[in-house]
Amino acid sequence: MSDELEIVRTVADLRQLLASWRKEGLSIGLVPTMGALHDGHFSLVEQSVQTNARTVTSLFVNPKQFGPSEDLDVYPRDEVADAAALAARGVDLLFAPAVEEMYSDGAVTAVAVPGIGDLLEGGFRPGFFTGVATVVAKLLIQSLPDRAYFGEKDYQQLCVIKRLTKDLDLPVDIVSCPIVREPDGLALSSRNAYLSAEDRQAAPALHQALIGAGYALANGAQVTSSIAAATAELLNVGFTKVDYIAVCDPTSLEQLEIVAGKARLLAAAWLGKTRLIDNIAIDV
Ligand code: PAJ
Repeated sequence: MSDELEIVRTVADLRQLLASWRKEGLSIGLVPTMGALHDGHFSLVEQSVQTNARTVTSLFVNPKQFGPSEDLDVYPRDEVADAAALAARGVDLLFAPAVEEMYSDGAVTAVAVPGIGDLLEGGFRPGFFTGVATVVAKLLIQSLPDRAYFGEKDYQQLCVIKRLTKDLDLPVDIVSCPIVREPDGLALSSRNAYLSAEDRQAAPALHQALIGAGYALANGAQVTSSIAAATAELLNVGFTKVDYIAVCDPTSLEQLEIVAGKARLLAAAWLGKTRLIDNIAIDV
């Protein structure tokens, strides 16, 4: 950890600083974010600061991972507060490029991760994982960190990033970090800020429904009936739509019809205009 948080906005400046650290033999951790930072992000940052001599956080609201009807324009942004919070936690460098810096000269190259990137979230948000994979590949290549930190909150994203790192031979350790939750179980998310007071009351039911389904599966219930019960529970407490509740292989994310051993339960559901995602691990 150095004394101060430096902010850079160009790839050239990022590369120059990181090259000097690498020359000194300092290990580097990267924590990619879209800002509006909360304790979920900070848990990744803290893990990186503990393990690496230098920690870089990126703050970039990546337009390529937002669909045309999604919330790019209203996505919460507060760089000043984010920078202060990162400085207080010992982050050394904030990389906060403009869109034109990240995608200059009409950049067209994209990183697609078919298969795992087409399932679940990929089915409901076409192009989302190509947008994520492209920007994460760029960030990893720009900074060449020893380790990069991602949250299990976005479990499918984590699986997609592990796959792309392996497929592209990127020399980086992908470190997965557990989900940070509110005391009532709601997973922390920048998008929770969109919830009305009433929706905020209903929101923890998403986590509870997953726990209920996991418990039912562990007690021998069928996959289909466990999912049906969890879906009904959500609609009952005020969720307006359930995109999916799925029981999946923890690595390939293929849906399982029978659970024996480790599995991941993943869900996405709407409370009015707000879409929430969550997931839990089970071992039957
Ligand atoms: P963002 O939503 O800002 O999240 C940045 C990182 O914080 C991700 O790895 C995410 O999984 C993690 N995170 C968010 N909420 C968390 C929680 N409650 N507990 C643990 N980790 C949590 O995910 C993205 O940005 C973008 O897709 C990005 C990877 C930066 C690419 O643009």
